[in-house]
Amino acid sequence: MSLQAILYTPTPPALQILDQLKLPHESVYVPIRTCEDAYNAIKRMVVRGAPAIAIVAVLALVVELTSGEGLSGEVKESAGGARAYVHRRLDYLVQSRPTAVNLADAAEKLKVVVNAEAGSAETVVERYVEAAEKMLADDVKDNENIGRFGAEWILENSEVGNGEEKGGIAVLTHCNTGSLATAGYGTALGIIRSLHSGSNLTHTYCTETRPYNQGSRLTAFELVHDKIPATLITDSMASSLMSLKSIAAVIVGADRVAANGDTANKIGTYQLAIVAKYHGVKFVVAAPTTSIDMKTASGKDIVIEHRPGKEVTVIRGPLSKNDAADVGMDLETVGALVTAARGIDVYNPSFDVTPKDLIDAIVTEKGAAVKDAGGDFGLSRFF
Ligand code: MRU
Repeated sequence: MSLQAILYTPTPPALQILDQLKLPHESVYVPIRTCEDAYNAIKRMVVRGAPAIAIVAVLALVVELTSGEGLSGEVKESAGGARAYVHRRLDYLVQSRPTAVNLADAAEKLKVVVNAEAGSAETVVERYVEAAEKMLADDVKDNENIGRFGAEWILENSEVGNGEEKGGIAVLTHCNTGSLATAGYGTALGIIRSLHSGSNLTHTYCTETRPYNQGSRLTAFELVHDKIPATLITDSMASSLMSLKSIAAVIVGADRVAANGDTANKIGTYQLAIVAKYHGVKFVVAAPTTSIDMKTASGKDIVIEHRPGKEVTVIRGPLSKNDAADVGMDLETVGALVTAARGIDVYNPSFDVTPKDLIDAIVTEKGAAVKDAGGDFGLSRFF
């Protein structure tokens, strides 16, 4: 059975998410009943990954709209009231995390859907629910297509494929882009799944992905779960690995791809792209077209989220609860180990921007884009 970060049942609408703060130690689902529940879960990273954030947010509003709890008479009685409510709640949800564009993109599309419905409050809610549920179903299909296109592109274009790699290739990935970061299958990890299922993968290396350890906690969990041959490395081992082993491609996800191809993704992606370039390793970004932001011209316009310093100074795990009070974390079931000197200042940008020049291919559900002679990815062809 594949891992599921998002459990949604349509009749009656109910939503639960896998608490990713507790993985890999415990698999616990928590209910999401309101937009506030979703906002807090996203902000605290109970759910994370650009597509998963978007889907949880829009489905939370489905649950809220259909439960009837807390909806004022105005919302229930007129189409205009229902439309205004949907707009207001989506605007609120979009503020939860700033860098990934998928949620803002979903919110814009859903606003267009409700704006086009002139009937009654009930039909406005119906149109919203249909469109939000379709986004959930589409995400899995899109990821499977990304997986297929990405595997094909890498097999055709990587320079590695002989000797040690006979019968398949080895790849490196960063952060978590799998079933846990999406509605299912994954983007970069979807490509790895596709390579594996086609018997074209010899090995996957996954980075630990400090400071939040999405690689060691989540990607490693998915790779072990799916029995994909894999090895965990710390982030600082990537150059050494690429100099000593034949790696066909570094495959990463995206939180926002600017119109020119510059890509914001988990902190550490940029340095992997530089190292890949130096070693002649293909650098592939895997992302649905909902991660492409044609309104943002280049990476310098992307807002980068900065997160609390305690994510850097504290490692969570079933270790000890002694430091919990000091660091002010919610540590009901997991402990914490403080690894830094008290009082040190911390720099903790959650994402960085990889310039397009370092990217070989951007793989979407509609196909792979590569740069033309002028260095242009031509991403507008996807819209
Ligand atoms: O801070 P996170 O864990 O939400 O960051 C996730 C990433 O950077 C992923 O690579 C990206 O969202 C793509 S997930 C398919």
